[in-house]
Amino acid sequence: MLKLNSHPTGRHFLQIPGPSPVPDRILRAMSLPTIDHRGPEFGALGLKLLAGLQQVFQTRHPVAIYPASGTGAWEAALANTMSLGDLVLMYETGHFATLWQKMAQRLGLRTEFLAEPGACPETGLPVGWRRGVNAALIEQRLRGDGGHEIKAVCVVHNETSTGVTSDVAAVRRAIDAAGHPALLMVDTISGLASADYRHDEWGVDVAISGSQKGLMLPPGISFNALSPRGLEASTTAKLPRSYWAWDEIVEMNKTGYWPYTPSTNLLYGLHESLQMLLEQGLEAVFARHQRWAAGVRAAVRAWGLPIQCADAAVYSPVLTGVVTPAGVDADALRTLIHERFDLSLGTGLGKVKGRMFRIGHLGDSNDLTLLGTLAGCEMGLKLAGVKLAGSGVQAAMDHFAEHRG
Ligand SMILES: Cc1ncc(COP(=O)(O)O)c(C=O)c1O
Repeated sequence: MLKLNSHPTGRHFLQIPGPSPVPDRILRAMSLPTIDHRGPEFGALGLKLLAGLQQVFQTRHPVAIYPASGTGAWEAALANTMSLGDLVLMYETGHFATLWQKMAQRLGLRTEFLAEPGACPETGLPVGWRRGVNAALIEQRLRGDGGHEIKAVCVVHNETSTGVTSDVAAVRRAIDAAGHPALLMVDTISGLASADYRHDEWGVDVAISGSQKGLMLPPGISFNALSPRGLEASTTAKLPRSYWAWDEIVEMNKTGYWPYTPSTNLLYGLHESLQMLLEQGLEAVFARHQRWAAGVRAAVRAWGLPIQCADAAVYSPVLTGVVTPAGVDADALRTLIHERFDLSLGTGLGKVKGRMFRIGHLGDSNDLTLLGTLAGCEMGLKLAGVKLAGSGVQAAMDHFAEHRG
């Protein structure tokens, strides 16, 4: 039989910021028999899922579901709304923003990549990778675009490579203040269903999300939440598209079906996930992640290590990036922790590779699994020779004991 953890007993600690640990309830739902995706039962399931997703995205407008990872939904967002050579304004918050920008270029778009310049004196890491989007820079750039050459502003809501969120409502205000017609596209792949996300209220035209983060599903399905302006743009956009095309999907979704074979069993899981999230209530879901994040940050502070996010206003509720001391390779540390304690932590990506690791606090977790995670980190840091200022585990225990969930 397939062996999935390095230790003979116990459950592997999957504490990367997605894929997140999947609740047993969802795994069981996914083990139901596959049914005919054009049969009579399927349409009712499809309609229920689409209505539930609208609640989670906080939108009244259509949400497209793709049998693809988040990267597919990134491509869908651009391919449905843009034409060859269009200019898009993107913002460098980290590795995922960088990958999305590269994708836009590969699709034949012109990109401008805004970023806060400079390196952080404390860690030597790029400043822009430690902060959220500066909406004032976007407003300034749009004001300079009198000819409205820029067709879209693209930002990442929760930058999973750094543990930094961005104020999406502020980006919408910046676009409006500049009187600019650019579409607002938001990657909330790791934000949705963990960090507060309000599609309609924030005036987002296309949101991109994925299954394997806050929705607590395995990877494999992803989403585009639309707006009337986004849909309107897709009627004139010229980039070639077929599999990703919204028109057929939105039309067939009206009866709960899809133009091609959907991921039936992942959709069973989605049904269960939506039920769990909506039973608990989105406010409680967001508060739970904020509380976990605060406990984990208390631990990192007690260790005396810098948190990758340098702005307390935009700490991610989903993950925390921990910067390792100069000379301590964060990936070697992760390997040691994995081997010794069967705990997976997120690697540093792109410009922060080897300099930090990421602790995911999302999915099927609770106070004690997070304390186990922090214990694994603390033991690993000590084994790697890092001099810690104090016990992070104790600090997190104190936090969780003092702040009831
Ligand atoms: C913010 C963000 N954007 C995009 C992606 C890419 O999604 P996927 O790996 O599902 O294709 C990820 C994956 O972790 C992500 O966290």
